[in-house]
Amino acid sequence: MKLMQLYASLKSELQAIEDQMALTVTSDLPILSETSLHLLKAGGKRIRPVLVLLAGKFGDYSLETLKKVAVPLELIHMATLVHDDVIDDADTRRGQLTVKSKWDNRIAMFTGDYIYAKALTVVTELDKPRIHQILSGTIVQVCIGEMEQIRDFFNVDQSVRNYLRRIRRKTALLIAISCQLGAIATGAPAKVSNALYRFGYNLGMNFQIMDDLLDLCGTEKAIGKPPGSDLRQGNITLPVLYALQEDAIRDRLLGEIEAIKVADGRSDSTAAVKLVRSSKGIKEAERMADRYIAKALQALDSLPDIPAKRNLTDIARFVAKRSY
Ligand code: IPE
Ligand code: IPE
Ligand code: MG
Ligand code: MG
Repeated sequence: MKLMQLYASLKSELQAIEDQMALTVTSDLPILSETSLHLLKAGGKRIRPVLVLLAGKFGDYSLETLKKVAVPLELIHMATLVHDDVIDDADTRRGQLTVKSKWDNRIAMFTGDYIYAKALTVVTELDKPRIHQILSGTIVQVCIGEMEQIRDFFNVDQSVRNYLRRIRRKTALLIAISCQLGAIATGAPAKVSNALYRFGYNLGMNFQIMDDLLDLCGTEKAIGKPPGSDLRQGNITLPVLYALQEDAIRDRLLGEIEAIKVADGRSDSTAAVKLVRSSKGIKEAERMADRYIAKALQALDSLPDIPAKRNLTDIARFVAKRSY
């Protein structure tokens, strides 16, 4: 099933969220509108708002309320992307130039900060301190995850556990709370919001493992950025860690990673990517990703049988097989 088919039942709600996001980031200062709208208009899967809306179906559904969760969550996601592209020195995202590339790093820093701040102005319209606490706690975790990533660039001795802890922070938690906050905002029972959190957490772990696999196995056209970017940056992801455990691959791969490191951005990662692709690392990472999807689906078991449950199942199946 295509993403658009999955979203069909939510079309008008998603359009309302899209409009509100554009309105939220529009500023009297033209440069801030230009930079923010540049990324917004480039598209994206909008998976977090979709999860908020579907989670809201388990409570007392209200688009007005859910917009105040979905808009900030997607904007916070976008703000982290603007900053992430500075850290990763990435020139393209969503098939377009990144803010740091079209403008520069300084502009990207404040564009990210600005989008963050605007996201907060929307969510504070909700008179539920718990939502604000969960959200700010998660942003803190994303910062820690991204800092850990910088610290661990080119660290070939890190453990799989280390990798999993990092992606939990940088990616999975924001997806988990997209589900949880949709339920909390609409007054769903704690049992329901907890189950949705578990669903989102496991989906989010799968999501980042797939992102890391796509960086090694995807095409530029499909993923909207050149493949091999992670290794070029020294970001050691799960398939690479597994490949390093393979005797026939390890020494050659260590050599390639070292060569990328000493070239300090002047070398490409083609040879290293090829080695990882020829290893068992891809299959093993896929297996780990599958395990998380199975857990995500399991988390849905306890939820009432409403159509949104089926939609969440379909989204999990899409994410597990995605090519972009
Ligand atoms: C990209 O997220 C960054 C990760 C957390 C893996 P998405 O894959 O959700 O990016 P867009 O919003 O669809 O561009
Ligand atoms: C996700 O990590 C970034 C954030 C959670 C901010 P990546 O660095 O893998 O994301 P992409 O690949 O640039 O989209
Ligand atoms: Mg990145
Ligand atoms: Mg990536």
